[in-house]
Amino acid sequence: MIIEPVIKGVVARSAHPYGCQQAVRKQIDYVKQANPIVGGAKRILVLGASSGFGLASRIAHTFGGAEADTIGVSFERGPSEKGVGSAGWYNNIFFKQEAEKAGRIATNIVGDAFSPQVRQQVIEVINNDLGGKVDLVVYSLATGVRPNPETGEMWRSVIKTTGNPVVGPTLNLETDSLAEMTVETATEQEIADTVKVMGGEDWASWIQCLSEAGVLAQGCRTVAYSYIGPEVTYPIYHHGTLGRAKEHMHNTAETLNGQLAAIGGQAHVAVCKALVTKASVFIPAFTPYILALFKVMKQNGTHEGCIEQMQRLFNARFYTAGGEVTDEQRLIRMDDWELDQEVQRQVSEIMADMTADNFTDLGDYAGYKQDFMELNGFGFTGVDYQQDISLESLQALQP
Ligand code: NAD
Ligand code: NA
Repeated sequence: MIIEPVIKGVVARSAHPYGCQQAVRKQIDYVKQANPIVGGAKRILVLGASSGFGLASRIAHTFGGAEADTIGVSFERGPSEKGVGSAGWYNNIFFKQEAEKAGRIATNIVGDAFSPQVRQQVIEVINNDLGGKVDLVVYSLATGVRPNPETGEMWRSVIKTTGNPVVGPTLNLETDSLAEMTVETATEQEIADTVKVMGGEDWASWIQCLSEAGVLAQGCRTVAYSYIGPEVTYPIYHHGTLGRAKEHMHNTAETLNGQLAAIGGQAHVAVCKALVTKASVFIPAFTPYILALFKVMKQNGTHEGCIEQMQRLFNARFYTAGGEVTDEQRLIRMDDWELDQEVQRQVSEIMADMTADNFTDLGDYAGYKQDFMELNGFGFTGVDYQQDISLESLQALQP
């Protein structure tokens, strides 16, 4: 078969395996020539390892100076009669191939990170493959649902505001168009459910479980990723349901930091830049901001993708001789270049003029779409998109 891109709304319904391989290699090549991570963790567990910031954290630690062995947990779909499978499935496979070529251990666990079974499996693999301890736990899950362990029912996150409804243009990647959409006010229940799914509770439960199993090394650290953004986006993000979940995550970091002190460890939240990932394309009314931001940051030469953000986090902020670099809330601010005053002034100017007719000119729509296609293995030079790929050959690739 010839694998073509299929987009429905903001969801990619196909992925190109060899484009995903290219995406992984491109990130590896980047970190190999970037400022190296010095003094980094050597045994790492990444929860949410197959794409976005989690994959970039794994690549940075393996190839960007730390030479780490890693376990990656993710929820992805393999090839079947129904389709080729998800991009993250192939990212896992090709990351592991490259890591093993470099002499590193890279174990992939594909399953539901919220389940007790996957926790058990991770502990077994830490004991079998990593000598029984990890030095760093990266928490980078992004999802819309989490099963309630008591009842088995699903908590569902919603992307809504907590103030007055917000009307804003939202992107459709299938039709390359912007359409007005209203972001409604969340109910108390919807806020609580979103905090359950995207807040810090599951992160804390993972750390507790690993601690009880005795697999956290002396000095073990943990990090989770957050977003705050500039004031123009507060109604849809920071003061919305996702912002509430992140606030919960920030508080969880304080609790975990206190607990890990007993083994000389620490917990941090890194606040990252707005980027195109499988998760972020769902945020309504956010696109005009990202389109303007990409335009300005590229012009200024300060634009970063996931891999640039993660390499800089770990080489300049997280492992440093003088201790990690944080703000007064103990947050590691990787959004410093995004929130630069002059950048934000220019972004606001562009946003004020942006309409459904001119957004592809005023904003960096080409760059946004390219990023989205690359997430799914499309749009790479050096990949033969006309090649005939058999299902059997894909099924032979194992995570
Ligand atoms: P992503 O969609 O690229 O990655 C999510 C990962 O979670 C994938 O590996 C996926 O397989 C895994 N996952 C989802 N549900 C799972 C489950 N039930 N069990 C196991 N694995 C599961 O997302 P991302 O954008 O990299 O987001 C990671 C974190 O970074 C999130 O906390 C997000 O809020 C934060 N963040 C994102 C941005 C952005 O602009 N994209 C900015 C700042 C912070
Ligand atoms: Na991730």
